[in-house]
Amino acid sequence: MTIEQIKSTFDVEIAACKNANELQELKSKYLGKSGALTSLLKSIKDLPAEERPIFGSKVNELRKQMENRFSSKGEELFAAELERRLREERVDVSLTSCSHRGALHPITLVENQICDLMIAMGFEVLSGPEIETDYYNFQALNIPYDHPARDMQDTFYITDNILLRTQTSAMQARVMERKKPPLKIVCPGKVYRSDSDASHSPVFNQIEGLVVDKNVTLCDLKGTLEYIAAHLFGPQTKVRFRPSYFPFTEPSVEVDLTCSNCGGKGCSLCKETGWIEVLGAGMVNPFVLENCGIDSGKYSGFAFGIGVERVAMIKYGIPDIRLFYENDLRFLKQFGK
Ligand code: DAH
Repeated sequence: MTIEQIKSTFDVEIAACKNANELQELKSKYLGKSGALTSLLKSIKDLPAEERPIFGSKVNELRKQMENRFSSKGEELFAAELERRLREERVDVSLTSCSHRGALHPITLVENQICDLMIAMGFEVLSGPEIETDYYNFQALNIPYDHPARDMQDTFYITDNILLRTQTSAMQARVMERKKPPLKIVCPGKVYRSDSDASHSPVFNQIEGLVVDKNVTLCDLKGTLEYIAAHLFGPQTKVRFRPSYFPFTEPSVEVDLTCSNCGGKGCSLCKETGWIEVLGAGMVNPFVLENCGIDSGKYSGFAFGIGVERVAMIKYGIPDIRLFYENDLRFLKQFGK
């Protein structure tokens, strides 16, 4: 083939190239080791000496032109391919008729609702380990090995000294060892007990609250709990303290709220009493403070432990705690809309 013939067939062929593969094949067809242009260059030796420089420079000129065409065609094909993919793989993010919209789990909703309020009240949210030592779960909380209060929390032991925490109260000493008063913290998280029926689950959620400062009183505890109760169940909700016992608080109280179902008149939910027991609380026992290196002559504190499932069951009228963990969509879909 002559230079002109090569040139004109090349023009036709490159124009017809549809993708990068075809372009690559064409490139080796013309510029490869045994390509048309390369063979032409090799034939230079058959020419008379005086024609060789002109012929050589013409062939080189053509090679340059071809290389330029290959690179511009390559870019053109790349852009077209990109354009095609963007068009074909386009995702319509404006689609609104999706039928499986997720929602937060009722336990998460209640936990968030409580923690958001506590944050607004200046509390810090902290989390700690679910696999805990006997020391933090019990001993630091004034519950030595032989203490009868251990019987109230049927514990999953991993070894003699390691267990699944039975209460978020385990965070109290952990925090007080590290941070000194003034302290205002809440610790949400999972706790474990070997217990299972309509109102008990082997794993459930608690939120521990702890305040330590100068002049903290039982009134501060009651005021804080009234705030939480009003936020969860409405401003008309009343808070009642009944004397109780926890080794890590003195005095200790059981906290009742007016029944959100009947407003305090008496119904089956509150067993006709008008009150529902929701949490345990009290003034931090000086033993616990001293144990963490806090001067109990100078500082006092209150603590409370909220059962998140219990609150959610009252709030939404859920009769069986196991409904929370079965992940039945018919149940879950009713929340967080
Ligand atoms: N940890 C207790 C429980 O799980 C609840 C509790 C009671 C927490 C009194 C407290 C408290 O912080 O002061 O039964």
